[in-house]
Amino acid sequence: MRIAIIGTGYVGLVSGACFSDFGHEVVCVDKDAGKIEALERGIMPIFEPGLGQLVARNVEGRRLSFTTDLKRAVDGAEAVFIAVGTPSRRGDGHADLSYVYSAAGEIAEALTGPAVIVTKSTVPVGTGDEVERIIREAAPGVRTSVVSNPEFLREGAAIEDFKHPDRIVVGAEDDRAAEVMREIYRPLYLNRAPLLFTSRRTAELIKYAANAFLATKITFINEIADLCESLGADVQDVSRGIGLDRRIGSKFLHAGPGYGGSCFPKDTIALLKTAEDNQAPLRIVEAVVSVNDTRKRAMGRKVIRALGDEARGKTVALLGLTFKPNTDDMRDAPSISIVQALEDAGVNVRGYDPEGMEQARPLMPGVDLYDSPYEAAAGAHAVVLVTEWDVLRALDLRRLAATMAEPVLVDLRNIYPPDEVRAAGLAWHGVGRPQLESA
Ligand SMILES: NC(=O)c1ccc[n+]([C@@H]2O[C@H](COP(=O)([O-])OP(=O)(O)OC[C@H]3O[C@@H](n4cnc5c(N)ncnc54)[C@H](O)[C@@H]3O)[C@@H](O)[C@H]2O)c1
Repeated sequence: MRIAIIGTGYVGLVSGACFSDFGHEVVCVDKDAGKIEALERGIMPIFEPGLGQLVARNVEGRRLSFTTDLKRAVDGAEAVFIAVGTPSRRGDGHADLSYVYSAAGEIAEALTGPAVIVTKSTVPVGTGDEVERIIREAAPGVRTSVVSNPEFLREGAAIEDFKHPDRIVVGAEDDRAAEVMREIYRPLYLNRAPLLFTSRRTAELIKYAANAFLATKITFINEIADLCESLGADVQDVSRGIGLDRRIGSKFLHAGPGYGGSCFPKDTIALLKTAEDNQAPLRIVEAVVSVNDTRKRAMGRKVIRALGDEARGKTVALLGLTFKPNTDDMRDAPSISIVQALEDAGVNVRGYDPEGMEQARPLMPGVDLYDSPYEAAAGAHAVVLVTEWDVLRALDLRRLAATMAEPVLVDLRNIYPPDEVRAAGLAWHGVGRPQLESA
């Protein structure tokens, strides 16, 4: 099948590469000429494990190509996916749909034959109706259907998630569109990934409900972690103790510095706006958003406490800056708020990240970035583990301690067993775990 994908970011590029790997003929479009130029030279604009090889294989097989020319990509395509950004609208937190609607307008102008327009971007309920209106008005003579097909991939594991999804949600209002979607996803369907057909509005809501639920789970365990600290209980054991209950499940129950990233923060807020506009307030999600907001800065205060009596003038090394491992995405990363809180307290901040330093640099201009965790830690008064990259899971703690001005480890991901940390000569601070006497 011929497919055009509008927007070649995390979602568009991964979707395009995977669809072409299924055997479809895919053209990925982006307005950003630099991105397209890089892709044509085989350079990935984002860090995503396995993506470079997948793209190269399908470009070589002539199933995948890139262009800035939307018209050329859409002409003759049976399905056109919209995968442009839907950031928070400045000022009120509603999803900014301007990119989606302008993509819809451009698609309508480019259509020459029947096509299914598929919204893959995360969009509020009712957006599909508006996309349909835009396309019908601008291309009245062309047979089109508008479908919602929200994406659930996780950055860092995007290809695996795309090829082995827990489910594929399709909100289609007519049989022909449903049939086209079934055809597109046939290879996954054969692998038994459930294809869930719903109304278009329902599909749009499923995406927000899923993200809000996961954000709630994270925030719940983070609050339990705070309670554990007050009670001398251990949140790791609480997580295990509740997560083994299959009704609850163990995923998203790791206490940490709060959720960030390109989805949860903006999607929870956008869902609240939809709820408010429809007089069906979501009090639980309201609490989640507010608890998570205050948590990120509270992590900065935790580090300041770990520095002892006087934080001003001391140096702290943050290890792991991206919002999670295996991505270079810095959008709404907790590290940003932690840096702010530390700098406000007069602390000198250093940083290290395996992949995210280029993205981090403009967001934290006062932070000195180093090429290795050991270089960042040398002479520091505390090291803070912010993101659990694999390369940070097996640090030589003795080596780290030996070069620090004061050997203090604040482990915001509970990666290291406290005893191991203390045995290496470092004072240990974790999240939601009993703080015993330092060795
Ligand atoms: N990143 C994720 O993990 C993830 C997961 C699931 C869903 N989503 C959703 O998918 C959507 C896309 O997210 P993303 O992270 O891939 O965004 P992104 O910002 O990385 O990429 C969007 C791309 O669209 C391009 N673009 C915008 N308007 C265009 C137009 N008219 N024509 C051509 N290109 C255009 C931009 O230049 C940009 O490269 C969002 O709605 C997001 O919420 C993201």
